[in-house]
Amino acid sequence: MINTICWKDDIVRMIDQTVLPEREVYIECTDYKQVADSIRTMVIRGAPAIGVAAAMGIALGAMASKADNKQVFLQDLDEVYRVIGETRPTAVNLFWAIDQMKGIVRKHNSLPISQLKDKLKQRALEIREQDISINKNIGQHGQQFIKDGDCILTHCNAGALATAGYGTALGVIRAAHDAGKRLSVLADETRPFMQGARLTAWELMHDHIPVTLITDNMAGYFMQQGKVNLVVVGADRIAGNGDVANKIGTYSVAVLADKHNIPFYVAAPISTLDLSLSSGEEIPIEQRAADEVTHVWGKSIAPVGVKVAHPAFDVTPARYVTGIITERGVAGPAYVDSLKALACGDND
Ligand code: MRU
Repeated sequence: MINTICWKDDIVRMIDQTVLPEREVYIECTDYKQVADSIRTMVIRGAPAIGVAAAMGIALGAMASKADNKQVFLQDLDEVYRVIGETRPTAVNLFWAIDQMKGIVRKHNSLPISQLKDKLKQRALEIREQDISINKNIGQHGQQFIKDGDCILTHCNAGALATAGYGTALGVIRAAHDAGKRLSVLADETRPFMQGARLTAWELMHDHIPVTLITDNMAGYFMQQGKVNLVVVGADRIAGNGDVANKIGTYSVAVLADKHNIPFYVAAPISTLDLSLSSGEEIPIEQRAADEVTHVWGKSIAPVGVKVAHPAFDVTPARYVTGIITERGVAGPAYVDSLKALACGDND
């Protein structure tokens, strides 16, 4: 199994996703600032994986505090929350994880600092473990939509590498594959960071799941040819009305799927829901550096000085989404009610 992120001997170890698939390198973070840098530079990426990294980063930050009174300890923690919270703005799992850790501090407020540190570490490890079982449940709920012989198109990487393991969208595909269904995957390369080419193709090949890599602008061609049976993608934040923020290019895929009557599913944990937002218009969209667009593998592909736009995510309106697959079941239109019901329900 691909080990995206783990905690060993008070070190956070993560596979460096900026150099895959060329090299399989592991980064070891001994302090929270390294974890924050790893999130910012996308050594670790994908909404659930960012959440796990954030929780582990906070645990590292807490453990490193030299405070001998609670007030100073809490101030140290505030600084850790701030630094981790400023890494990436769109994936709500980051803020969910920070809230989880704040909740632990509130709940165990009366404990001595050393025990509070233990509780924070425990919660971070639990978040990692739970993420894997959540993804397996997402897979079970989602695999019903995949029939024997289907070809599934996916965008970006919502796999083991984007989570603590197994994946959300790729978890659905894995579960169908594990159930013995013959299937194949079309993976959009996902310019400009190439998560599809570098990560999705790598992890599906790793698990012997048939995958064909295409460039982003080929999706319409394969849909028109009748080669795509359904689309499954992940999400970075889902608003209360079912609008979905995901990797830039997802919206184009959703519109194309709609035009070709192809079901478009989103697979995501409950922690990706942001019911405080009434629509996707309120979701903050991360703008990333121009050189990720002008350069490929360090080589310039555009004229020096060209103006560049680089929104890292887009929002797919709920009307294009056939269903949202979570660990607690599948929400369908109308999302305001179906998402609320799932968010209030108990975990499977
Ligand atoms: O910029 P990234 O690589 O962090 O974006 C990742 C995505 O958009 C994923 O599809 C999303 O986080 C879901 S991951 C299970």
